[in-house]
Amino acid sequence: MTARIMPSLLSADFANLQAAIETIPGADALHVDVMDYHFVPNLTLGLPVVEAIRAVTPAMLDVHLMISDPDRWAPAYAEAGAESVTFHVEAAAAPVRLARELRHQGARAAMALKPATPIEPYADLLPELDMVLIMTVEPGFGGQRFLDLCLPKIERTRALLDRLGGDVWLQVDGGVSVETIERCAAAGVDSFVAGSSVFGAEDPDAMVTELRRLASAAAS
Ligand code: DX5
Ligand code: ZN
Repeated sequence: MTARIMPSLLSADFANLQAAIETIPGADALHVDVMDYHFVPNLTLGLPVVEAIRAVTPAMLDVHLMISDPDRWAPAYAEAGAESVTFHVEAAAAPVRLARELRHQGARAAMALKPATPIEPYADLLPELDMVLIMTVEPGFGGQRFLDLCLPKIERTRALLDRLGGDVWLQVDGGVSVETIERCAAAGVDSFVAGSSVFGAEDPDAMVTELRRLASAAAS
C-alpha cells in the first residue's frame, strides 16, 4: 500500500495560501477545512476561498465540511471543482441522498465520523461512499493531540471495508504526525490528513515524503 498524504491547509498561512500550496508539490491532495461556527466552535473559510484555491492549483482538493446542513451546502463544493467532498454524518439529514448527489456531480463522496460516533450504524451505507473519514481529534482546531481511543474503530471500519471489497478509502484527520501515523497505517488507514506536522516542519514537502514512507512501511 502506498499511503496518501493530504496536508491540511488549516495550518498554512491563510494570507498566502498559494505560496503554502507551492511548498508541498509532493502532496497527494490538499485538505481544505470548512467550518461554520455552528457544527464546530471555529470559523475558517467557505466557497469563495475554495474557488480561489481551485483557480491556482491542479492538485486534488479534499474538502472537509464541518458544517451544519451539509445536505444544502455540500453540492456547491463539488460544483466548484473539489474532487472529494466530505460531510459529517452527525450533521447530514439524508446521507445516502447526499452521497448520491455528490457522486452524480462527479465528485468522490466521503462521510466523516467524530470520535464518539460509531461506524456500525452506517455499515450498510458504505457502498454509497468513496471514502470514510475517522476523526482522531474532536473537529474544530488544528494542533490537537491524537486520540488513541479511535484506533479500535479504525480497525473495525477496515474490516467492514475489506468485507465489502471495492476501493473505499479510509482516512484519518487530527494529530497525525511521525509519532502517530504508523499506528493508523497498521490499523488499516490509507489516507492521512496532516496539518501542523506538515506546515510546522522546516521542509513541509520533505515531511510529506517522510510521513508517506512511515505509513507505507507500517502497512505492509
Ligand atoms: C480539525 C481539522 C483538521 C486539522 C488537523 O478539525 O479537520 O483537518 O487541520 O490538524 P492537525 O494535523 O494539526 O491535527
Ligand atoms: Zn479536516
